[in-house]
Formats: sequence, C-alpha cells, structure tokens
Amino acid sequence: MQLAKASCKTFVVLCGLLTLVHAYDLVREYSGITFFDNWDFYGFRDNLTLGNVYWLDEPDAFSQSLAYVNGAGNAVIKVDDTHTVQNPQNRNSVRITTQDWYAVGSLWIIDLVHMPFGCSVWPAFWTLGSGTWPNGGEIDIIEGINQMPSNQYALHSTPGCYHNSTPPNQIGETLTTDCSSAAGCTVGELQPNSYGSGFAAMGGGVFATQFRCYRRPNVPASINQSTSTSAIDISQWGPPSASYLASGQCNITEFFTPQQLVLDITLCGEWAGLPQFYLPACGSQGPTGICYNDSVVGSGSNYDEAYFEVAYIRAYTTGGAVPTPTAAPFEIASKVDVTAYPGYGSISKTATASVGTGLQPSPLFFPGNAARSVRLGSHGCWWVVLIGMGLLVRMV
Ligand SMILES: *[C@@H]1O[C@H](CO)[C@@H](O)[C@H](O)[C@H]1NC(C)=O
Ligand SMILES: *[C@@H]1O[C@H](CO)[C@@H](O)[C@H](O)[C@H]1NC(C)=O
Ligand SMILES: *[C@@H]1O[C@H](CO)[C@@H](O)[C@H](O)[C@H]1NC(C)=O
Ligand SMILES: *[C@@H]1O[C@H](CO)[C@@H](O)[C@H](O)[C@H]1NC(C)=O
Repeated sequence: MQLAKASCKTFVVLCGLLTLVHAYDLVREYSGITFFDNWDFYGFRDNLTLGNVYWLDEPDAFSQSLAYVNGAGNAVIKVDDTHTVQNPQNRNSVRITTQDWYAVGSLWIIDLVHMPFGCSVWPAFWTLGSGTWPNGGEIDIIEGINQMPSNQYALHSTPGCYHNSTPPNQIGETLTTDCSSAAGCTVGELQPNSYGSGFAAMGGGVFATQFRCYRRPNVPASINQSTSTSAIDISQWGPPSASYLASGQCNITEFFTPQQLVLDITLCGEWAGLPQFYLPACGSQGPTGICYNDSVVGSGSNYDEAYFEVAYIRAYTTGGAVPTPTAAPFEIASKVDVTAYPGYGSISKTATASVGTGLQPSPLFFPGNAARSVRLGSHGCWWVVLIGMGLLVRMV
C-alpha cells in the first residue's frame, strides 16, 4: 500500500481488500479512433448548470476540432481556446453522453493524460441515471472548479440517501453527507495531484469506480497489465478514495438506476462562477471580478489547459461470488487540505434542473446482462459505490 509515495510511478486506485479473487469482464471500450463512436453530443447551450458555453453537436465538435483523436491515439475534448468571444456570447465546448447504460454491477475505468483546469473551468466525468434528475441518481467521479488543488467526488439522489462521515476504508475526507443536498454527498480526495495542473504534471492517472457490491484490494498491476480485451482482476487494489456504503444509510438500488457516462466541460455556471468560489481563486483575472466577463469573454488564450485527453474509458461487469472486505486504509504521506479551498462541497446545483433531457436513448441497454446485477443483489452483499484514484504512473 505504498501507492502514495512520490517515487512510485503508478498511482494507486481505489477499493478495499477482499479475500476472494474475481474478474470483471470488459463490455465496452472507448479508445483510439473509435472512441467517439458510442456517444451522443449535446448540441445546445449549457442549460443544465448554467455555464457560459455552447456544447456543440457532433459535426461541429469535429469540424471545429474540439473533439478529436490525437497523434498519440488519445481522445481529446476541449473548450475553444482559439476564438475571441464577445460579450454576451457563449464559448464553444463539448458534452458527451454514452449511448449505453450501465447497471449496478458495473466497473468503470478512465485513464486520462490530462483533465481540464483553470479559472472559470468546470470539468466533470460523471454518471447519470434515468428520469428527471436526480431521480435516477448521479455519481461524480472527476469534478472540480477554478484552481482547486484536489478532486471532489459526489453522489446526488432524491431525499433519503446519506453518506457516512467516517466510512471504513475510505481514504478521502467526507465533506457533506446528505446526497439530496445541492452539493450532494461529497468526498474530497486527499492524495496529492488528483486534479488540475498537478494531475497533468504527473502525466495523468486512472480513476476507477465500482458501482457494485464489493470492495477489493490494492495495486494497479491489474490495470496496467490489462489489455483492451482482457478481464480485470481488482483483487490487488487499495482502499477507495470515496466509499459510499449502502448499509443502513443509502439503499443504492433504490436511489440509482442504470447510469450513462458523461464527459463535459462548462465554464462559470452554478459552481465555478459563483462569486464566493470564483473571487478568492480567480478574482484577479480581470477588472470586473465576474467569471464570465473576465474569463470567458476575450481571446480564449486562458483555455489552453481546458481539455480532457483520455487514453481510454473501459466498462466492465461481473457476476460471481461476493468477497469479504478486509482491508484497512493506508496512510497518505502528505494529505491535501481540501477544506482550505472554499469550493469543496459547495456546488449549488438545484434539484429542479432536468439533466440529460432529450438525450436518453431507448430502449435501455444493459451491458452484460441485467440478470447478473439482480443475482448479485440477492447475495445480500452491501451495495456500494466506490471511487478510487490511481496516479497511474505511466511507464516511460
Ligand atoms: C458583464 O457581462 C454581462 C453579460 O453581458 C453584462 O450584462 C454586464 O454589464 C457585465 N458586467 C460588467 C461589470 O462589465
Ligand atoms: C504495473 O504496475 C505495478 C505496480 O506499480 C508494477 O509492479 C508492474 O511492473 C506494472 N506492470 C506493467 C506491465 O507495467
Ligand atoms: C432497496 O431498494 C430495493 C429497490 O427499491 C428494494 O427492493 C429493497 O427492498 C430495498 N432494501 C431495503 C433494505 O430497503
Ligand atoms: C435544455 O435544452 C434542451 C434542448 O433544447 C431541452 O430539450 C431541455 O429540455 C433543456 N433542459 C432544461 C433543463 O432546460
């Protein structure tokens, strides 16, 4: 469990220890020249989080080079950083949603070289359930704003789902516990370099999310040795950064439907753009101290870092025996003090916004098969959402 050491080239990932070894089977890979094949592009302004962007449709995103596969074979989605935006226009960006839906029993891994950051920038890699938000639940895997030094995880749900302030095995810090609050139930990542420039400087990393009923041990060898077709054994993974246990406080199957994956970048809006978060971090960006006026309007040169570069996203599912979690958290050598940044746990999303309207494909597609998920539930295991981060130190 030495994953947090600076000398370690590989970042650690999530999850607790288990006594059984079981493999997840790959059901979908998004990578390389086919990365964009199974996503829908939003094609409208950000009417969800009220950011100052227009999320392009697919033809425009490609023709304006805001979505493409680069020479390294990695998928890039980005904010327009080459055009001058006049007040009161929006700046172009991208929001994509998977056409597939992933049921409880799924595992998602995203391997990123770079995530967007900078003043006014609000990126997210997250999942969204069906129905009017937040009826189907939402899982925020990567999310941050402005100059935040560390990633924030969250669940959003209807009333009745809570997070524990000190869940066993979780190495992140619980910040808010009511998943139906505007911020959701949030967890701050305490490992360094989980967001922004620090993440990019490390060469990126890997986030894995188990939407699932068991925890598994440590060590990312199983990830860096996996191929685009292999099953994945998570038996060596470490404790999760965020561990949302179902026991007692949130019945995951009640609050979370099958989920779509979403990658998006907005600007300002109901989190990054709020004065109480924008001003302390970015108030010196221009004369007005207003997110839109000082950051979005103008040449766009301040958006050079506002892009995702994704090596792959893989979705897995599994059936099989339920392992017994036995792991203990490891010590993080130098924890990030997430409470020192005013933005954590403070998103102001309103529960009335209908996220994803008009984008829901039908019929529902369950990767693997839904019966597996049902069978897992009948084993009486804890339904949990575990999110972990591994600074995947890429082998160079
Ligand atoms: C900022 O931009 C808004 C939107 O166009 C405009 O209404 C407002 O007057 C601007 N504020 C300042 C201080 O320039
Ligand atoms: C994967 O990472 C582990 C742990 O850092 C390392 O021991 C192993 O050599 C790596 N394997 C590959 C194939 O890079
Ligand atoms: C959890 O929710 C599911 C689906 O709504 C329900 O079938 C199950 O009885 C609930 N479990 C508990 C312990 O309430
Ligand atoms: C956002 O815009 C889309 C496209 O016009 C529309 O279908 C959807 O209802 C809007 N959502 C909200 C919350 O206004």
